[in-house]
Amino acid sequence: MREVRQAFRRFWPLTRGDRRWLVVIIACVVVSALAETASILLFAQLTDNALKAGSLSAFWGPAGAWLGVAALGALVGYLGNSLATWTAERFVLRLRAKVFRHVQDLPPHFFQRHRQGDLVERLTGDVEAIEQMVVSGVVGTVSAAFSAVFYASAALYLRWDLALATFVLAPLFLLAARRFSGRIKAASQDERVADGAITSVVEESLGNIVLTQAYNRRADEEKRLEREARAWMSASVRGARLSEMYEQFVEVVETLCVLAVIGLGVWEISAGRMTLGQLLAFAAFIGYLYPPVRSLGGLGLTLTAATAGAERLNEILDTEPAVTDPAEPVAAWPVRGWVGFHDVSFRYPGSRRASLRDVSFGAGPGELVIVTGSSGAGKSTLSKLLTRFYDPAQGVITLDGVPLTDMSLRFLRENVALLPQETLILNGTIRENIACGRPGASEQEIERAAREAAAHNFITALPDGYDTAIAPGTAALSGGQLQRIAIARAMLRAAPVLVLDEPTAGLDAVAARQVVQPLRKLMAGRTTIMITHDLSLAPDADRILVVDRGRLVETGTHAELLARGGAYAALAEPLPDAVADVPPPADETMILRW
Ligand SMILES: Nc1ncnc2c1ncn2[C@@H]1O[C@H](COP(=O)(O)OP(=O)(O)OP(=O)(O)O)[C@@H](O)[C@H]1O
Ligand SMILES: [Mg+2]
Repeated sequence: MREVRQAFRRFWPLTRGDRRWLVVIIACVVVSALAETASILLFAQLTDNALKAGSLSAFWGPAGAWLGVAALGALVGYLGNSLATWTAERFVLRLRAKVFRHVQDLPPHFFQRHRQGDLVERLTGDVEAIEQMVVSGVVGTVSAAFSAVFYASAALYLRWDLALATFVLAPLFLLAARRFSGRIKAASQDERVADGAITSVVEESLGNIVLTQAYNRRADEEKRLEREARAWMSASVRGARLSEMYEQFVEVVETLCVLAVIGLGVWEISAGRMTLGQLLAFAAFIGYLYPPVRSLGGLGLTLTAATAGAERLNEILDTEPAVTDPAEPVAAWPVRGWVGFHDVSFRYPGSRRASLRDVSFGAGPGELVIVTGSSGAGKSTLSKLLTRFYDPAQGVITLDGVPLTDMSLRFLRENVALLPQETLILNGTIRENIACGRPGASEQEIERAAREAAAHNFITALPDGYDTAIAPGTAALSGGQLQRIAIARAMLRAAPVLVLDEPTAGLDAVAARQVVQPLRKLMAGRTTIMITHDLSLAPDADRILVVDRGRLVETGTHAELLARGGAYAALAEPLPDAVADVPPPADETMILRW
């Protein structure tokens, strides 16, 4: 019960603005219950006065009234039900938007811990389960309570003694509901979890289809899916069996009640204490009483399903974003591009080892700073801190001398453009993929960015040119081509600070140089921090930072560091001098990668 209260307290505020509609809906429900009650009483009157007496003159009055009442009931029922659906769906809309907005702010490690299918299930099934409680639940309970009271009082009014005799059976319903609700909850929760797992498996397998096919993993993947599908099947069958058992049990109890009423009625009529019309009306009221009583009994089921959903949503909503906007962000200013790391240390949440330790360095406008070092040294981590996916545990990172934590995230990311290590592609055309670097960019600007990223030639060679549709995981372009589209996007953004994580990873040495020269030209007056293993670009750099196991071990120019003969010299050792002498290619050459 405490869980229900908590869930309610958390999600009820989302009905703000729609509560008056809830009142209107309930009013409609009350009016329809009243109309129903009136029509049953009119039916009794017709039976006794018109039917039994065979009198047509006694027919018209009650018949006209009945028709009127029925029309009113129909109109109000229509209004109430449409409004109820509308309000319920609006709630779903808001709740989903709220959760989705929250999810979008969550840090990368959250997504590493939660499978996508599971998140999808939470945003669909669980959201709906909560609606079932907060909106439909409230409306349903209030209307069931009203209807039950009306029909019960009408039955009591007709024959209180008979009514009390039949009510004795009512606790049976509640007992049944109580016995079943816990088990049905468990089944529905299992089903929800299995549903999420199935989506995850399908998504992961299809997203990884190359690995599956190349390494003959089909049978393993099928087994994985089968396992989840079986869990789902067993939960779903169990849930359906329990619900069905409950339904059938209720049916039997209802039949018992009806027989009791008829038996008592026969006796009463034979003794002359009741008319046939009264008996029929009485039986009708008792019959009408079942659905609301049943739905009150089933309320427990709705509540348990909803609290299960609420727990799963709370898990998301209670996860704090790793970074948040400051309460009072400093006002926007024209950013020059001075970047400063001051004794920065950082450890990923849940990780035991620090990924960065006491890192300090600076970079200024117009500078190209290359960050290099062995795999896993902490280079990408630097880029994640500079774009504030995480805040350092110790130390400060500044932009133009202002700590990153003092400015709004939006402002920071407008001014620090990131080209991440994984090529990120939007679902859309190539043009849209480049344009998303700066919404509203003109055709010429997009094309210039593509030219500067050495992408224009291969794009125009495609049958659909800039209108070619691409999607994440698309096979229509090579890895290096996708990478250059991403570079064009970052170039178009033209932020004062550009952070490039392995921008040349998919390019051969020649293509890499083709990218870097225009990059430098474009970056005149801007700050570029380039993370790379590709030291063919090192002579171009104003400064090189060598990172090793989270520490900055060397800083200097290419020449200085070579002369020093330390870690950098070892990394740069096999640098082929011949790269610069390779003749420019006649056509596009690149290393194809998956
Ligand atoms: N989300 C994470 N949670 C915990 N540890 C992480 C996470 N991401 C990275 N690490 C750890 O932090 C360290 C630095 O990782 P980082 O990605 O910065 O390396 P890198 O220098 O970019 O390597 P590469 O050259 O292979 O891209 C690694 O030891 C890695 O295991
Ligand atoms: Mg990296």
